[in-house]
Amino acid sequence: MPDFGLTLGDSRDLSPTELMSAAGNGQGFRIFSIDGGHTAEATEVDLQNGAGCLLEGGVLVLDDVFNMDWPGVGEGFHSFMQMQDGGDARLVPFAIAFNKVFLTHKHAHSQYLSHFLHAVPPRKVVDIFGVKVAVYEAGWITAFHSNDTFTTVSQVDAGAQ
Ligand SMILES: C[S@@+](CC[C@H](N)C(=O)[O-])C[C@H]1O[C@@H](n2cnc3c(N)ncnc32)[C@H](O)[C@@H]1O
Repeated sequence: MPDFGLTLGDSRDLSPTELMSAAGNGQGFRIFSIDGGHTAEATEVDLQNGAGCLLEGGVLVLDDVFNMDWPGVGEGFHSFMQMQDGGDARLVPFAIAFNKVFLTHKHAHSQYLSHFLHAVPPRKVVDIFGVKVAVYEAGWITAFHSNDTFTTVSQVDAGAQ
């Protein structure tokens, strides 16, 4: 029977230790999905927290990295990738799909990539951050951006997002 927990608050105030104690097994998470604050700062903190409580070979999922409406997520993602050490425990991407990036520890990367490639053929495979990444369709986000509307100058001045 799965356990569910809800914590109200700003995710930037959390720590891996607090998250770890919220995990049902007290040891960490097999899957950690991030779709919260879309600033560079919030994204980087959420990634650090996620990385800090991910079980060995677990999967960390980050939404909106390549969504042009939310460039702060991309900035936070790239900052996080640069600040990680070069060891085998760092997180690297293995798939980009449906507006999300999927990461796992470097030592588990080839296993996940191989499973994905055999299970679902990708559109292509690219090299980024020193690893191969399967790229799948973008999904709903494509339709979203093909329906772009123009923002007026007055909306920009008013800080519309
Ligand atoms: C893009 S929505 C996604 C919500 C949910 N994942 C979904 O698909 O329905 C992002 C949510 O994160 C919340 N949020 C933004 N910054 C946050 C922060 N620093 N801490 C916690 N939540 C935050 C927003 O209020 C919003 O509800």
